[in-house]
Amino acid sequence: METIVITMIEEEINSKDMEVCANIIKKGGTVAFPTETVYGLGANALNGQAVSKIFKAKGRPSDNPLIVHVASIDEVEVLVKEIPKEAQKLMTLFWPGPLTIILKKSNKIPVQVSAGLNTVAIRMPDHKIALKLIEESGTPIAAPSANLSGKPSPTKGQHVLEDLLGRVDAIIIGEDCKVGVESTVLDMSEDVPTILRPGGVTREQLEAVLGFVALDPGIEEGLDFKAIPKSPGMKYTHYAPKAEVVIVKGTEERVVKRINKMIKDNHELGKEVGVLCFEDTCLSYKGATIKSMGERQDLESLASNIFSLLREFDQTKVDIIIAEAVEERDIGQAIMNRLIKAAGYKVVYT
Ligand code: TXA
Ligand code: MG
Repeated sequence: METIVITMIEEEINSKDMEVCANIIKKGGTVAFPTETVYGLGANALNGQAVSKIFKAKGRPSDNPLIVHVASIDEVEVLVKEIPKEAQKLMTLFWPGPLTIILKKSNKIPVQVSAGLNTVAIRMPDHKIALKLIEESGTPIAAPSANLSGKPSPTKGQHVLEDLLGRVDAIIIGEDCKVGVESTVLDMSEDVPTILRPGGVTREQLEAVLGFVALDPGIEEGLDFKAIPKSPGMKYTHYAPKAEVVIVKGTEERVVKRINKMIKDNHELGKEVGVLCFEDTCLSYKGATIKSMGERQDLESLASNIFSLLREFDQTKVDIIIAEAVEERDIGQAIMNRLIKAAGYKVVYT
């Protein structure tokens, strides 16, 4: 199919171009657009047939539900059975922003969106293009990340073009995504608020409002493979570049030593090695394709680089990518969650 590609700047949205995109959504088509977290691939959330096109374009398993994006808190009411007081509080405090809230769904939500569950995931993105597209379309927009299923989420327009050109009706190319990892998914549909996916809003921030917040055991399934993740999406292979990924965790000195040893060992096996490291360790590695994620303390900039770097390795000949572990505080928890998935849970402790 032919894809309309439109370039847009967040602070100078061209109303004609926006109208073209909103009309596509209104007619049941698909539009990829930027958000503050990652690019999304959207369709009218209240039109099951339109939503099916998203699954087809991405090659996404149909049992994996989608997030419904709204442009105001008022739009939530008709989408859910009820809005608990605590959920309302979260919306007021964290929206627009990288927090997705799961509530019991109303019968307005097509089965394609909820994938047969009795709940629906909702968020208001903090991005003028996304908000304008929802407003002008006159409907909430269901949107997963705008990548082919299994690949790292797109944080640059170029990533969306690579994955979806010819597979969707339109792609809006905006600036690079500021946050760079997907939203926190929080289940508020049962008694205990539970994080199903760590993201831009941290557990500490949520606990400051809600008191105790649980972590779905599926998030740590690498440590305990028997745990069944509650968020269907968490069970699939994710964020995977072509090369195998291994994470190395430990003190800085030991990590550097260990990775250099791994580079050597892999060379002996005839393998090309890539290393994902920090600014301060960049020069410590020899004989590998080195990419720096940024300053190790600057977790926010690490987050905004991570998916893009994983994709960059696909342009090289490396067979294995060895990644230094990121500190698991604040958004570092989300970064490590994605890295661990990219690595298929292969972590070397040193
Ligand atoms: O930042 C984001 O959340 C981005 C942007 C585009 O908004 N979207 C995104 O969507 O990451 P997606 O589809 O790639 O990830 C949504 C996650 C999946 O793991 C899915 O299984 C889970 O949310 N999810 C959606 N609805 C759910 C529900 N009703 N119950 C449990 N998990 C749900
Ligand atoms: Mg995704």
